[in-house]
Amino acid sequence: MVQVARALKVEVVTPAPKGSTSGNRHTAQRYVRILRDLGCAASVVERWIDTPCDLLVALHAKKSAGSIAKFARVHPLAPLVVVLTGTDLYEDLEPSAEVVRSLDLATRIIVLQPSALLRLRPEWAAKTHVILQAAERVNGTAEPLVGVFEVAVLGHLRGVKDPFLPAEAVRSLPIESKLRVSHVGAVIDRGMEDRARQESAENPRWRWLGERSHKAALHVLARAEAFLQTSLNEGGSIALAEAIVAGKPILATRIAGAVGMLGADHPGLFPAGDAAALGRLLARLEQDAEWRAELAACSTALAPRFSLAAETAAWSALLADLGLLGERPRVRLTQVGSAEQVHDFAAAVREGLCATPKRLPCRFFYDETGSKLFEEICSLPEYYLTRAEDEILTARSSEILALVPSGSEIVELGSGSAEKSRHLIAAAIARDSRARYTPIDISRSALESSARALTARFPSLHVHAIAAEYHAGLARSASPGRGPRLYVWLGSNVGNFDRTEAAAFLSGLCAHMGLEDRLVIGIDRRKSKAVLEPAYADAAGVTARFNLNLLARLAATFHCAIDLAQFEHVAFYDEIEGRIEMHLESRVEQVIDIPELELQVALMKGERIHTENSYKYSDDEMRELARAAGMRVQREFHDSGEQFTLAVFAPC
Ligand code: AVJ
Repeated sequence: MVQVARALKVEVVTPAPKGSTSGNRHTAQRYVRILRDLGCAASVVERWIDTPCDLLVALHAKKSAGSIAKFARVHPLAPLVVVLTGTDLYEDLEPSAEVVRSLDLATRIIVLQPSALLRLRPEWAAKTHVILQAAERVNGTAEPLVGVFEVAVLGHLRGVKDPFLPAEAVRSLPIESKLRVSHVGAVIDRGMEDRARQESAENPRWRWLGERSHKAALHVLARAEAFLQTSLNEGGSIALAEAIVAGKPILATRIAGAVGMLGADHPGLFPAGDAAALGRLLARLEQDAEWRAELAACSTALAPRFSLAAETAAWSALLADLGLLGERPRVRLTQVGSAEQVHDFAAAVREGLCATPKRLPCRFFYDETGSKLFEEICSLPEYYLTRAEDEILTARSSEILALVPSGSEIVELGSGSAEKSRHLIAAAIARDSRARYTPIDISRSALESSARALTARFPSLHVHAIAAEYHAGLARSASPGRGPRLYVWLGSNVGNFDRTEAAAFLSGLCAHMGLEDRLVIGIDRRKSKAVLEPAYADAAGVTARFNLNLLARLAATFHCAIDLAQFEHVAFYDEIEGRIEMHLESRVEQVIDIPELELQVALMKGERIHTENSYKYSDDEMRELARAAGMRVQREFHDSGEQFTLAVFAPC
């Protein structure tokens, strides 16, 4: 059998608590054993709580809905397998929004018997694997009860299992019958206990043996003449599989779950809920030894399907289907903090639009539309920054990589589309093919598409994308025994901080850096207004749309109306401060009403909302930045037009 190369970390979530005799607990434990056999590091948990994990397997679409939703949000690219274990499929499927959501989020679905496929919507069935559960064999032989023809029922006492049907059916047996139904199982539906006791006392052919350990239950099965299942609904019953593997004659209700496991032509099927039909079958079972042998032969023929080897092979096929066999997954995405940023945005809007002068933080530019518009800006004729930096990176990436040890991890802040960093990544791969790239960006959509594009271009690259703001992302990327790193902060992103904030941020980064680590930083240089202003107020109006999109996002997020035509994009260079300022200027006197935030923002005609600063650096200011951050400028490169600086900072 193929094995996974490096231990893949798998968590198996089961709603059944430790020590429970429920089928779900049992199934989860068996899955862990199988996954370990396949080379995975697997464990059972009751809930997934943000522990690192390459694959989540969640039993029960409804009861584990919380873990499923959380895992999908935090690791959107990681494989997520949802196991439909029983009632989730047969009782709750259509009515439950949680089940629907779990199945939509699942990368793959497991059902425990083939007829379950018929119940699934086509788009779910398309990603479903049928994995029959391996049943434990009874060890040794058990002596049958003397003078009794015992029929075993294994299952908890709950309505859906129709537990008292046999008690009724045995009343029709002939007087000389020695048949007795022995029911093993705990009371789940309160109120059933009294009936079970009463029936045991008054009905000589029916006895409730109470809850037994799994081993003891298997012992009852082993000594019994036959196995009986009366469920009205059943996912893929482990007890039925145990009876098959034990080679017992089986009587069961003609329901999808049983038909899926036994086959529609199984001779021991009877209509659910039909005590008379069951009575007739029980009588025949006791009297007709030939028929018993025929039923037993059916079980023996089916037994290999319920072996551990068969189930392990099915799991191996599932892991292969998920691309998890052999290599480790090459792309991971981790979300730090809230998925939507909505909370954060609301706070920033409240604070910024109540301040004088009004402002909104530029980090909220980058929703999906904003990220796309920024990509468009980067190829505008007036926006020289990206081309200048790209020219330097094209020429100097190998030289820069030579400043850090081979195998260094590339950690990029504000990676966006990662178009800028591809030269550095290519240079890293040229030195060590198993290069690792950790992009940190606020835009999850940009990370998802750039991670895919990069691994398509560089097949040996491992990407761990982190959707977060800088600080949180850096904190998440820090692992104790990590190797050397090349930090990358390109595109004049540092320009969004004022000079003091920039120095403070970099000194924080420096504190995390090892002596061999380096920072590659892209910095825009001070230059004439005539070049700078058109770069932020292009003729095609893309930057204006980028700026206005902030209001469009605000309106969409908080469901309010803002007329973008009543605002004008304003960008100018402040020569003294050495910064471009972007604003949204109100063309009229107006009130923006944001009921969701209980906010009414009055704007005068000509009043501005400050949306961005973009600081430019002279060479002296650049060196001062490094010094203030506790670093030194090890190298600096310029483009042929001398417009842009790419510097390598080293801790000192
Ligand atoms: C992504 C912050 C570097 O300031 O040049 C581009 C953003 N704003 N056009 C910049 C931006 C308007 C850009 N940074």
